[in-house]
Amino acid sequence: MARLVLVSNRVPSPADRGVRAGGLVAALSEAISGGLWFGWSGQTGDATDTTATQRRSRGVTYATVDLSQADYERYYVGFSNSTLWPLLHYRLGLMEFEREQYYAYLDVNRAFAAALSPLLQPDDVVWVHDYHLIPLGGMLREKGIANRIGFFLHVPFVPPSAYAVVPNGAALLQSLGAYDLVGVQTQSDLQNLADCLREFLGWPVEDGNCVLGGGRTTRLGAFPIGIDATGFAEMAVEGANSAEGKRLRESLARRALIMGVDRLDYSKGLPNRFHGYSRLLARCPEHHQRITYVQVAARSRDDVPQYQAIRRELDRLAGRVNGRFGTIDWVPLRYVTRPVPRATLAGFFRVARVGLVTPLRDGMNLVAKEYVAAQDADDPGVLILSRFAGAVHELPEALVVNPIDVDEIAEALDAALRMPLDERKARWQRMWERVRTDSAVAWRRSFLDTLTDGRRN
Ligand code: G6P
Repeated sequence: MARLVLVSNRVPSPADRGVRAGGLVAALSEAISGGLWFGWSGQTGDATDTTATQRRSRGVTYATVDLSQADYERYYVGFSNSTLWPLLHYRLGLMEFEREQYYAYLDVNRAFAAALSPLLQPDDVVWVHDYHLIPLGGMLREKGIANRIGFFLHVPFVPPSAYAVVPNGAALLQSLGAYDLVGVQTQSDLQNLADCLREFLGWPVEDGNCVLGGGRTTRLGAFPIGIDATGFAEMAVEGANSAEGKRLRESLARRALIMGVDRLDYSKGLPNRFHGYSRLLARCPEHHQRITYVQVAARSRDDVPQYQAIRRELDRLAGRVNGRFGTIDWVPLRYVTRPVPRATLAGFFRVARVGLVTPLRDGMNLVAKEYVAAQDADDPGVLILSRFAGAVHELPEALVVNPIDVDEIAEALDAALRMPLDERKARWQRMWERVRTDSAVAWRRSFLDTLTDGRRN
């Protein structure tokens, strides 16, 4: 079997073992069982490396490079997370652009290609991940790499009217032509990407999955990412019975738990969630003292100014909710920005009567799937899910809300807290079946089968 080479900006670091580092690392860690994983070390140094440092752990070789401080600022903080991230999450008002950051983005991709190409063997199947590394495939081709190379975008893709805003957008799209297969999360992302390729490059897309460009045939497909649901369910049982799980339950004093877990990111819709909860408490005094909302929002991308702003806003809102509704023995909203181990979170999900997942936009949102996987079949909780998360297509039995509508969040919370056991079970059962089948391994297999015409596995 050909060796699999994963490439992503973020790779798991031994320092944050067990802590949730975002959906990409969680899903890829479950999907990889051997091979090579190449990417940024998470460290900055004097210069961006063009030679990788390697370490092995559990059958996987991790090859990483450091970024120079200047490249970290221009490639990661700059073009990746201040231009592409807001663009691809439909937040054009937050988008910034500096031409020199775009050039640094290309330079870092070139440095990645230089460091990765000597490590590649002729039969390797290379799988590049996410918006940081769109041009990487083309740069590997320039180095003579003729292997099968696939690309998967974890975030949404926008329609042409929004994509038109990014300068050099056509060049970025063009670089997708170097890949044999380009995958996105959902059918609507696929439609948007195909529309952009047609509009900005004039590349015909036939049957929705085949585009001719750059002298090669590049296939397009939607491959919704999944989780190891059975493994997560086991972790949830252990977590709920662990010392941390017991501490949480005791601290709740029989109150129903509403749980949210996200990176602290403006795409996650956290202010609206806090407002929605506040409106529930304002409208329904019968819930006072009877519920507790725990929001874990792990700090993320601290050096991006928009992330500093959302943090300040949430600090203020959390204080306001507790000041307004809290009593001497009841803190209605517990807001935690410190990282919590994934195993502990799994246990907390199992304890939670409501999973609150209301991003304004999200490629998939694996927390929604994790919440479903963590439930007790005899007494499952209720998932409240944004209609703008990719996961909604597989989990329509959730209470689906428009996250911009604070009243809708408040009403969904009220409905979830009152939902009878039979309805909770019926909704959960259908979601569980899908979460279990559409696993991380099934996702990897279907992408790689398409990439290699079924020859790899
Ligand atoms: C999202 C992105 C990933 C990224 C993760 C964490 O899930 O799609 O590419 O790794 O967020 O963000 P960070 O900037 O810390 O890598």
